[in-house]
Amino acid sequence: MLTLGIETSCDETGVALYDSGLGVLGEALHSQVDLHALYGGVVPELASRDHIRRLVPLAREALAQAGRTLADVDLIAYTQGPGLAGALLVGASVAAGLGIALGRPVVGIHHLEGHLLSPLLADPRPAFPFVALLVSGGHTQLMAVEGVGRYALLGETVDDAAGEAFDKTASLLGLAYPGGPALSKLARDGDPKRFAFPRPMIASPDLDFSFSGLKTAALHCVRKHPPDDRLRADVAASFQAAVVEVLASKCLRALEATGMDRLVVAGGVGANAALRESLARETARVGASVFFPPARLCTDNGAMIAFAAAMRFREAPAGSEDFTVRPRWDLAAIGSP
Ligand code: KG4
Ligand code: ZN
Repeated sequence: MLTLGIETSCDETGVALYDSGLGVLGEALHSQVDLHALYGGVVPELASRDHIRRLVPLAREALAQAGRTLADVDLIAYTQGPGLAGALLVGASVAAGLGIALGRPVVGIHHLEGHLLSPLLADPRPAFPFVALLVSGGHTQLMAVEGVGRYALLGETVDDAAGEAFDKTASLLGLAYPGGPALSKLARDGDPKRFAFPRPMIASPDLDFSFSGLKTAALHCVRKHPPDDRLRADVAASFQAAVVEVLASKCLRALEATGMDRLVVAGGVGANAALRESLARETARVGASVFFPPARLCTDNGAMIAFAAAMRFREAPAGSEDFTVRPRWDLAAIGSP
């Protein structure tokens, strides 16, 4: 079965073709980072317009890579939510149009389900069950993943997402949006112990996070000291050390609470080298294993949407004619296929 997956929930247009027997056959992606950098964050209206411009050419590119035509597609999947309403509507309406034209079923997929299942596209492939740490610009969540459609939220951020905190602190240090990768580069030359930034909620018995206070602590620090290169690198390193310590500590607690021994990391912040090192060390210490899918699967992409749809369709073959989007959509509400 060949599934075409479309992702347009935020600032990446992704299209991919997933074959249930052969795996991912074609992948095309366009990031709008340059488009939004000028404004210091994602501008929803510009995002929608760019998805409209990119989607069809990207679909052609993915099909060409796969050596297939639209007539070969058996199932069409799109991100139904959560995300920006206008952006979601672009993917949804293209998917619905293709479904009607080709006479193929169309399924709407929860964006986070895509992220949660995407590690199964990697090699090595983690077996169920596992704890997933989802750390992106919009989300910071710990989930217990028992199987397809069986997800339980263990904890999440009560304010900023981890990526958002990276981006805000980076902006404070004069780095362009999205500053996470640049901040982590700057941190390499800094002293992570120079500033004892708070470790928010590290001692609380739950699995929730809070990151907004950290950015404020960094702000006070930059205001108090002359902002030379040394200071910027030390603030970056100290900030990163605080985020990593909190994330790693809650991941270990989640493994302990669920009795699971596999941790999977998804989302853009999963690319952070300090986080990877810390999680590898800490999981090894408790006899657990950690999986880091390749970066192209961690960030938003069409393959995760095609794959999640193929998994769901296998269990419950049904499509829908309507193309509702759900900008706010609780993952716990989706249930088993
Ligand atoms: O998952 P993602 O590509 O997009 C969504 O937010 O959906 O995540 C992007 C986030 C941004 O906040 C970005 O700054 C952050 O991931 N990020 C990083 C690194 N690479 C990307 N944060 C810290 N260190 C990195 N190396
Ligand atoms: Zn995402």
